[in-house]
Amino acid sequence: MKLQHTVKAVAVLAATLALTAAHADPVQDDQLLINGEEELATQAPAPDHLEGALGDTVYSGWLFRDTDTRAMQKDDFDNPMFLFVDAGLETWSTPEGTADKSCADCHNDIEESMKGVRAQMPKVNDKGELWALENYVNDCRTNRMGAEAWGWNSQEMKNMTAAIGLQSRGMPVAVKIDGEAAPFWEKGKEMYYTRFGQLEMSCANCHEDNFGKNIRSDHLSQGQINGFPLYRLKDQGAVSMHQRFVGCVRDTRGVPFEAGSQEFRELELYVASRGNGLAVETPAVRH
Ligand code: HEC
Ligand code: HEC
Repeated sequence: MKLQHTVKAVAVLAATLALTAAHADPVQDDQLLINGEEELATQAPAPDHLEGALGDTVYSGWLFRDTDTRAMQKDDFDNPMFLFVDAGLETWSTPEGTADKSCADCHNDIEESMKGVRAQMPKVNDKGELWALENYVNDCRTNRMGAEAWGWNSQEMKNMTAAIGLQSRGMPVAVKIDGEAAPFWEKGKEMYYTRFGQLEMSCANCHEDNFGKNIRSDHLSQGQINGFPLYRLKDQGAVSMHQRFVGCVRDTRGVPFEAGSQEFRELELYVASRGNGLAVETPAVRH
């Protein structure tokens, strides 16, 4: 029964999306050496919970991009995301809201206080809710600064999550999936394998069953999220994780959940856990 379904899904995929059999593996002869000095791990042993679903190795999306795109991420001067990082750093020390406080007034040096934060998000907060980095930022803005919440996909939010994410660059993704996080993780996993849209396709149909193959002349990766928010050359702008989820669900001609929704935070936790062990690459560059 399950096999029949899979065969059908792959047939639909091949017919509708021009999936070509041509297998193009992740590049093996390049290293993500940042500014010529700091090497980031673009492969890691697959986490146990995957039970071999991705073979024995997980790969960064960087390894599936062309030479020029890969090069842009190697040098912070060439990486267009650094304009946004700089804007985020400026906001970090700018007072705002009725409390007239800046992030720096409480958290001081971002390099110290935000080190490792990205690598553990999303996580369960002290009220037992699953929060993404964006939730923590907006909680401080609204409850501690008396400022307006930023939109999930607003430029201000992406500037800030890029500046915070950078402080974990090179550290292994290490989201917690047991204990209080387990029920959220289970739901995210269920969603990852649920077929959406007219094409009846799940995340797994593309990013697990077919990574390495070409789809509409695009090279399919494992759909990892260790580089977000990232610069997308096609959009000439910064893209958040949830924006990317929306785009992928839309490609199946399905109706996506909203950025910031409970569903997408659970999906974020599960997808992040598929990349546990990969280096945080924020801010990455993709085409
Ligand atoms: C009035 C003090 C105050 C201000 C201003 C403030 N925060 Fe916070 N922030 C806190 C406290 C307290 C916590 C919870 C305790 C902790 O984890 O440090 C927190 C937690 C966080 C966390 C979660 C850290 C973690 O490891 O879980 C992030 C991210 C964060 N703040 C970002 C920001 C940003 C970005 C700004 C500015 C837009 C900001 N904060 C402004 C006090 C503040
Ligand atoms: C029809 C095939 C298809 C489906 C289904 C699909 N994606 Fe994608 N996805 C793509 C393509 C094509 C890209 C761009 C090339 C790449 O990075 O794989 C992409 C890119 C991504 C990326 C960016 C990876 C990076 O390193 O920049 C993420 C994350 C992602 N997808 C997650 C998901 C999730 C989560 C789902 C399920 C909700 C999903 N995708 C469903 C085709 C798909």
